[in-house]
Amino acid sequence: MADRVHLAVGYAKVNLTLEVLGRRDDGYHDLATCFLRLQLADRVEVRVTPRREPDLALGCRVVGRPVEGGAGNLAWRAAEALYRYAAPPGPGGGGWSVSIRLTKTIPVAAGLAGGSADAAATLLALDRAWDLGLGVAGLEPVARSLGADVPFALWAAAGTRAAVGRGRGDRLEPVQPGRTCWVVLVDPGLGLGTARVFAHYPGPVSRPPGAPPPGAATDRVARALAEGDIGQVAAGLCNDLEAVTFSLVPGLAELKAKLLAAGALGAAMSGSGPSLFGLAGSRRHAREVAGRLGKLVRGSLAVRVVAGR
Ligand code: C5P
Repeated sequence: MADRVHLAVGYAKVNLTLEVLGRRDDGYHDLATCFLRLQLADRVEVRVTPRREPDLALGCRVVGRPVEGGAGNLAWRAAEALYRYAAPPGPGGGGWSVSIRLTKTIPVAAGLAGGSADAAATLLALDRAWDLGLGVAGLEPVARSLGADVPFALWAAAGTRAAVGRGRGDRLEPVQPGRTCWVVLVDPGLGLGTARVFAHYPGPVSRPPGAPPPGAATDRVARALAEGDIGQVAAGLCNDLEAVTFSLVPGLAELKAKLLAAGALGAAMSGSGPSLFGLAGSRRHAREVAGRLGKLVRGSLAVRVVAGR
């Protein structure tokens, strides 16, 4: 049988809101978050070849960014997990060789779910390569086992533009944005592990009497996003992990202030950071904000304008 090559694309996301509702018994935190897919993507190519031995032989090569391709890579783990879950029969009772080629554009360990995007794209490509016919719904349990952000990455790879995430962030309700959001994405260029940030999270702060209940900010922003009310989306941006990451990364709080000073309608950190983003009313406005920010910040800083859709 000839090799089969399948391609898939995995998208970055930002969290328009990230509310931490409490600690769970499984080592995770309950969240309310509003995900927005970005037009910033990694490309995954999988080549599957039948092999005589009744098991899986995996290889993974990464180009574009300095990332290990080995067993720690989430794309590798996705292939292994799907092989175990679906047990695709090889011709003649043998197994499969899978070689993954990952072309990375999404910044690494930046709060943009780049690793999750690669895992999701790998699942979709292998679903087709192995003729499993699982689709998004059938792949979801595997996605969930790989990480809290992988289910949204899977939905995003299949076309979903935004969603509210509850539980670990993996119980999803789709949101159809009323318009394109223009995002000024700022990558401070250093990686930060999600587990480290959550480990420093002090627990929920007490809310003043009469304050909106936990999760309300996410509902409000999701509603505004669906209505295409970018002003209300910008006004509602929030991330409960900012204080932790700002204490770990010198200069990050000042960078957020500069993003606002450069004219963003609103700004926040994405996920556990350290990426920051600002919202703009149009592509032109976003370019102006990016240009002004470039002048306000000395040294090298990756600033790009991307559409959220
Ligand atoms: O699921 P993922 O591997 O991306 O999560 C990495 C770590 O981040 C978890 O092991 C956990 O410590 C923390 N986390 C959390 N609550 C979430 C998501 C992640 O505490 N909802």
